[in-house]
Amino acid sequence: MILYFSGTGNSRWVAQQLAAVSKERVYDLAGLFLSDVYELEKGEPLGFVFPVHAWGPPEMVMRCISQLKLSSAPDYVYFVCTCGDDTGKTEELFCKVVARRGWRCEAGFSIVMPNTYVCLPGFDVDAETVEKEKCGKAKERLALVEERVFWKKHGFDCKEGRMPWLKTYVLRPLFIRFLMSAKAFHVTDACISCGECGKVCPVHNIRMISGRPLWGDDCTMCLACYHHCPKHAVAYGRQTAKKGQYIFHKESVGR
Ligand SMILES: Cc1cc2nc3c(=O)[nH]c(=O)nc-3n(C[C@H](O)[C@H](O)[C@H](O)COP(=O)(O)O)c2cc1C
Ligand code: SF4
Ligand code: SF4
Repeated sequence: MILYFSGTGNSRWVAQQLAAVSKERVYDLAGLFLSDVYELEKGEPLGFVFPVHAWGPPEMVMRCISQLKLSSAPDYVYFVCTCGDDTGKTEELFCKVVARRGWRCEAGFSIVMPNTYVCLPGFDVDAETVEKEKCGKAKERLALVEERVFWKKHGFDCKEGRMPWLKTYVLRPLFIRFLMSAKAFHVTDACISCGECGKVCPVHNIRMISGRPLWGDDCTMCLACYHHCPKHAVAYGRQTAKKGQYIFHKESVGR
């Protein structure tokens, strides 16, 4: 069974490709009912695929692992995270939350893909050439990950980057405290009231009021609303007016 979370499609693509090769079931974890018990056959692998958010797994992935009810304990847990640059100590945080369930994470991989974070100065989507290059390399990397997971190999291969400890254990808590809120989202006059931002929000945090989106308090900062808006009318404070948008397209990877 593969459970994925994705804001702009990178991780969804990875999860679907993995599922196609391994013939496993794949679920969007934003749509799971955490009060239900999910069937896991003896020996069936349990994989999590998600984007790196502030050098760790998204809060909602951690919550899902803590609350997920399975019919039997998994004997092979693994993760694949997608990131724009580097993962920091994502592996460590993921393994810890899995261990709290009494399970063991046996393998983990990162795949560098186009960046989606745009809410701070100096952060933007990648240039088209960089996007193309990343997608080409991601396809090759995924083939390697597919093979390792198919044979239930053990071991971790994540691109931690420089100063991973500082990023995950010092910057990440600050990021979560001050930058994980939907309060700075607003809509510009370019809005055509199409409702797309609300439709793509994985946690249903956006309501349309008098033809305009209104953000609630339950935001995971996946930025799906920002990147999917056809008019670039979703803004985050004053940071995003001149920033680009990105959504994963199969054509970028040719499969
Ligand atoms: C809130 C947020 C935080 C992010 N933090 C990181 C990070 O710490 N390191 C990194 O390399 N990429 C980071 N990214 C980029 C994403 O991990 C990357 O683009 C990922 O492939 C997006 O996956 P998705 O399309 O499945 O949502 C971040 C993106 C968002 C929206
Ligand atoms: S997606 Fe953009 S244009 Fe459509 S309702 Fe949302 S903000 Fe308005
Ligand atoms: S409000 Fe926007 S950023 Fe927050 S969870 Fe929904 S789609 Fe993602």
